[in-house]
Amino acid sequence: MQYRKLGRTGVQVSDIAHGLWGMSGWSGSADRESLQALQLAVDLGCNFFDSAWAYGEGKSDGLLGQTMAKNKGKRIFAASKIPPKNERWPALPKFKYHDVFPPDHVFKYADLIRKQLGTDSIDLLQFHVWTDAWTNDPDFRKTVEKLKRDGTIRYFGLSLNRWEPENGIKAIRTGLVDAVQVIYSIFDQSPEDELFPLCKEMNIGVIVRVALDEGSLGGKMTRDTIFPKDDWRSGYFNPKNLANTIKRVDKLKEILPPGMSLPEMALRFVLSHAAVSTTIVGMRKLVHVRENIALSDKGPLSPELLKQLKKHRWNRKPAPWSD
Ligand SMILES: NC(=O)c1ccc[n+]([C@@H]2O[C@H](COP(=O)([O-])OP(=O)(O)OC[C@H]3O[C@@H](n4cnc5c(N)ncnc54)[C@H](OP(=O)(O)O)[C@@H]3O)[C@@H](O)[C@H]2O)c1
Repeated sequence: MQYRKLGRTGVQVSDIAHGLWGMSGWSGSADRESLQALQLAVDLGCNFFDSAWAYGEGKSDGLLGQTMAKNKGKRIFAASKIPPKNERWPALPKFKYHDVFPPDHVFKYADLIRKQLGTDSIDLLQFHVWTDAWTNDPDFRKTVEKLKRDGTIRYFGLSLNRWEPENGIKAIRTGLVDAVQVIYSIFDQSPEDELFPLCKEMNIGVIVRVALDEGSLGGKMTRDTIFPKDDWRSGYFNPKNLANTIKRVDKLKEILPPGMSLPEMALRFVLSHAAVSTTIVGMRKLVHVRENIALSDKGPLSPELLKQLKKHRWNRKPAPWSD
């Protein structure tokens, strides 16, 4: 397993990391299997785990807490997120900061998360949504500074809205943000334009999420894939987006180098960018944990392949079904 610095925190995190969203209620989730997947990841050297209170109202934080308790001798870096009080995803500039992250709400959920994780101090606490319209609210600065001063958290981060990688740049410039979480994939290459250069310049940790495009870049989905109605993916992979996505996935399959799978190309693509600290992959299946972690040692893709993949960039705009 390879490790990289999470920006100015200086913490060495595994470049393949574990995302727990799917463990909180996607169809096909089983807690026993999820716990086994988390343990296998720890055993294979993964030390960075991304959770959120909203993933089952503390459920995935609890699964992570159980894993940390079972592995006391190992340093596990736990990231979680404060849910927006107005329960709206994504954040919109018309929402008032005080309706989304009022100080009492943030401190209350930070305590709830600490309890679930079983830790005094949360390694990385992120706001689950963000709009730069809130940057100058004095309570933003006061809240982050108090969380750190009191030892409630070690580092603070923002999870940026889907397909809006620039909507966080003002907040980063305040100096309050240690790490950003952003969607980056063979399809979603726009963080390379402005966000990544700024993060390099300011030494901000970059946590890539959804490198497999919620599963489409795992290569197993087809035009006929149907998710149950109560599974979030049934909205994301609605018939139109599913058809558009699979068309593009098929084009990628045509250019796969011999012996390389689609998830390998997708994950090594994001790790090929020097600004990236780690990528949090959703993996409930043990086979996925093994396959993905094994990619860490394979290093970046060749410059020729990276050049080809540039052409597969897909500039997307947030839509009512995308969050
Ligand atoms: N707003 C936010 O802050 C936000 C939003 C979305 C996600 N996230 C974070 O980012 C993490 C990653 O995103 P995600 O889980 O939504 O999507 P993802 O990582 O793009 O895709 C996860 C899907 O890919 C499958 N998969 C994993 N490895 C595979 C492989 N080698 N071959 C084929 N399929 C494979 C997983 O299957 P199994 O699970 O069945 O193994 C799962 O269905 C989340 O878990 C969460 O921590 C944050």
